[in-house]
Amino acid sequence: MSEYQLKIESVSFQADEQLILDSLSFNVRKGERLTITGPSGGGKSTLLKIIASIVDPTQGKIYFNGKDIQENDPLAYRQKVAYFFQNATLFDQTVRDNVSFPYEIRDEEFDEEKCVRMLERVKLDRSYLDKPIKDLSGGEKQRVALVRNLLFQPEVLLLDEVTSSLDAENKEIIYSMLDELNEEEAVTILAVTHDEREINKADRVLTITNGRLEDSE
Ligand SMILES: Nc1ncnc2c1ncn2[C@@H]1O[C@H](COP(=O)(O)OP(=O)(O)OP(=O)(O)O)[C@@H](O)[C@H]1O
Ligand SMILES: [Mg+2]
Repeated sequence: MSEYQLKIESVSFQADEQLILDSLSFNVRKGERLTITGPSGGGKSTLLKIIASIVDPTQGKIYFNGKDIQENDPLAYRQKVAYFFQNATLFDQTVRDNVSFPYEIRDEEFDEEKCVRMLERVKLDRSYLDKPIKDLSGGEKQRVALVRNLLFQPEVLLLDEVTSSLDAENKEIIYSMLDELNEEEAVTILAVTHDEREINKADRVLTITNGRLEDSE
């Protein structure tokens, strides 16, 4: 078993004539908090989608707990390595529809009390369960999406600018939940962000420019 939880090995991504990621390699330990930053168009989101196994690299490999992610069962992998992006989409009618979904796909009974506790951690009280999605603010939607992703705790959280469209208060609510998960439960976090706070919290900052990596501790 590898000492690294994630091993990114010479990953490239080519689309048409353009080399979007150029042979990136780095390793991530369990419980590490990594920030990925860099100029627009540099390839940050592409890298995150590749690690999430949503996009396949054109070259290179990713290992999760020592195993090539392409050999993992995709559904099981997505439950362990959760991907969460900027305008997370909520579906159906109410908050309840969304937070009950993770139970449905696992064939488990809906745990309303647990959902309420998780919603409370992002400052949404019980009354939100039956609110229609269309009535929620952007920040509330993002908080519900985070709860939906965290009801069954993943080992790794991949975050692509999840707070960039939010105001200071909403950012703080989301950050304090992420701090707790990382510090108390050793959930690994890889976050693409330009936010100073997230950069300061990171154990390591990776900068991607034109598809290449500069390691700037
Ligand atoms: N499947 C694809 N086909 C063609 N071009 C692509 C594809 N995926 C990404 N690109 C291009 O690759 C480049 C990197 O995109 P990416 O979204 O990874 O950048 P980014 O670093 O996340 O930028 P931003 O900070 O603006 O979000 C962009 O020029 C984008 O248009
Ligand atoms: Mg991006």
